[in-house]
Amino acid sequence: MTWFYALIGVVIIGLFLYWQFIIAEGTYFGARLVALLYDWTAEQYNGIKEFDEGFEDEAIGEPLANRLYQQPQALVLDVATGTGRVPLVLFRQAAYRGQVIGLDRASKMLAVARRDTAPYAERITLIQADAMALPFASHSIPLVTCLEALEFLPQPEHGLREFIRVLAPSSPKHPDYGWLMTSNRIGWEAYFMPGKTWSREQLWAILKCLPVRYIDIITWETIYDMVFCQKISHSPNRGQPD
Ligand SMILES: C[S@@+](CC[C@H](N)C(=O)[O-])C[C@H]1O[C@@H](n2cnc3c(N)ncnc32)[C@H](O)[C@@H]1O
Repeated sequence: MTWFYALIGVVIIGLFLYWQFIIAEGTYFGARLVALLYDWTAEQYNGIKEFDEGFEDEAIGEPLANRLYQQPQALVLDVATGTGRVPLVLFRQAAYRGQVIGLDRASKMLAVARRDTAPYAERITLIQADAMALPFASHSIPLVTCLEALEFLPQPEHGLREFIRVLAPSSPKHPDYGWLMTSNRIGWEAYFMPGKTWSREQLWAILKCLPVRYIDIITWETIYDMVFCQKISHSPNRGQPD
């Protein structure tokens, strides 16, 4: 019987490791381990994801370019930029003519991003930093994106608040400012990431307490919803978003 209990133990440990390192990608062990895992797989990342340019342009590029219709030169911050997916999509949009900052904690992901965005080198700045403490002043960035990464942050809700903090709000002078595009993990794997993902209702409730409007949570990929909202200034009368 000893071998039987040993087998059960091996299976349990294997399942635990699969859960923590494959499904949750190390997120319960902290940001340093998450970045390390991405550094290890940086060269394989694009091959694993197999991004389809047409689908990327339709789902990411066009909605972003449309939201910056009146300010096509607005600066975009892409948090957790990885290998530069969002910057590359943006640079393909003829309607968008601005600069992009790509921020990530994993240096080897940034190295791939630097190589792949080389044709647009004059339009991109890549920086290594943590999404939980963005090195930007409050209300300073016209548009913020963060795709497929919120659930890997130590405290996703804090991360969300950090994105809103740095966003410049929409104003009469800059009506297209203040947009956030991010993603929320869904599907069966989301159930194995407690505290890291939200139901649509939970996310809606969190965003409703922040100074944002036009909250839109839409189906995007099988394992992600796409989330849009626009930061506004607090109303001095009600102390609540307009
Ligand atoms: C699944 S990839 C997404 C990359 C890119 N946004 C995309 O959609 O292809 C997750 C990225 O989040 C980054 N990341 C995870 N935790 C981070 C943190 N605390 N600060 C900055 N980047 C982080 C990882 O290094 C990785 O590049």
